[in-house]
Amino acid sequence: MEHIYIETYGCQMNFADSEVIAAILTKAGYGMANDAAEADFILINTCAIRDNAEQRVRHRVRELRALQNRRPGLRVGVLGCMAERLQSRLMAEEDNVSFVCGPDAYRRLPEMLVQVRRGQTAAEVELSTTETYADIEPVRLAGNGISAYISIMRGCQNYCAYCVVPYTRGRERSRNPETIVHEARTLFEQGYREVTLLGQNVNSYSCGDTGFPELMDMVAGVDPKLRVRFATSHPKDLSDRLLEVMAAHENICRCIHLPVQSGSNRMLKLMNRKYTVEWYLDRVAAIRRYLPDCSITTDVIAGFSTETLEDHEATLELFRQVRYDYAYMFKYSLREGTYAWKHLADDIPEEEKTRRLNEIIALQGEIALQNNRKELGNEYEVLVEGESHRSKEQLFGRNSQNKVLVFDRGDAEPGTYRRVRVENCTAATLIGQLVQ
Ligand code: SAH
Ligand code: SF4
Ligand code: F3S
Repeated sequence: MEHIYIETYGCQMNFADSEVIAAILTKAGYGMANDAAEADFILINTCAIRDNAEQRVRHRVRELRALQNRRPGLRVGVLGCMAERLQSRLMAEEDNVSFVCGPDAYRRLPEMLVQVRRGQTAAEVELSTTETYADIEPVRLAGNGISAYISIMRGCQNYCAYCVVPYTRGRERSRNPETIVHEARTLFEQGYREVTLLGQNVNSYSCGDTGFPELMDMVAGVDPKLRVRFATSHPKDLSDRLLEVMAAHENICRCIHLPVQSGSNRMLKLMNRKYTVEWYLDRVAAIRRYLPDCSITTDVIAGFSTETLEDHEATLELFRQVRYDYAYMFKYSLREGTYAWKHLADDIPEEEKTRRLNEIIALQGEIALQNNRKELGNEYEVLVEGESHRSKEQLFGRNSQNKVLVFDRGDAEPGTYRRVRVENCTAATLIGQLVQ
């Protein structure tokens, strides 16, 4: 039996895809290697969102040459968004790569591996308008047996000016709701206690009569002890109806990831985000009205085309106003083929992008710490996930707001819900004690 090893980069959707890839290839008779050094095929599932994501992958691919010299039969393939973006060009540039496979072509992988084993190269990069892999039961790879991803839709056609995803993932399509509920139920029966529904823009989920709020209602109905999370919401589509459904189900987690990208209306327009700062703040207010204990997190880009100091200051001001619990913060990276690549200048010098990014990071760090200090004395129901990285004597878990709590182990077990009182904190972690 030949063995495959999958390495995954990028967003949660890529991690979910790797579990589909593992399912397709184990069904075709391949075993899963525990280590890259024991594999016959290494599959690198890649991200193309920013240039540094691609550089990391190229570095890794080149590093694998040494392993290939020791194991002459070892073949390396590049999958996912970077494969879709670069297609066969990637094999020309990285000559130790034998195959490239885009995100909608994973069902072809078994044939591709046979072809590669015969000494040929293979490239499958066709995008689909219908593929959702709905019938494939993923092989849980990252498995703690407690928390799992469920991909509910694929693709994106929002065409934000900076973003490569519409080109690497194709048109938006939603997966049949029955298959989603079935997957959630199966996971719960297997002992899982948390599912995260995934899509580039989950609020535009739509399959027949089922929109995202209806789907959430169905999945939350599987069992009150199954926590339901979702990512990512686009601010333009965040409806009051969804907030109502969330409020009606305690097991839908009180955490909304709402990427803002910029606090300047001029930037938002140039980015083609289709909302204004006022609209965004109205959605934040709606979240706080329906779900007073909901945490809000975001993504932001520093140094997009023509961003002035005034635009940047507007972003800082928005951060002060919303007071996010967490933010993913990025420097703008120009991506070939996007609207911005064709029509907008990448005119903010690298050092200035870094300076602005660091300013946002410093501000957000202060806000997160202040938010966490307000948690002292609060008690939460925590889904225990496992041992803390620091000490075997401590466990960690998350509350509904997705904040990590670390506490002395006591008699708590992973996979169970326990009450924990917060006694201390850092900007990233709450530290507490079990409440008996
Ligand atoms: N679909 C999600 C985001 C997916 S990409 C959404 O629309 O919210 C994750 C994040 O990467 C984006 O929110 C954005 O902040 C960032 N990003 C995307 N393209 C980028 C680029 N070219 N340069 C820098 N950051 C980028
Ligand atoms: Fe990219 Fe915009 Fe689609 Fe998000 S919504 S994936 S940022 S194009
Ligand atoms: Fe990256 Fe593709 Fe996800 S570009 S962020 S892996 S959809």
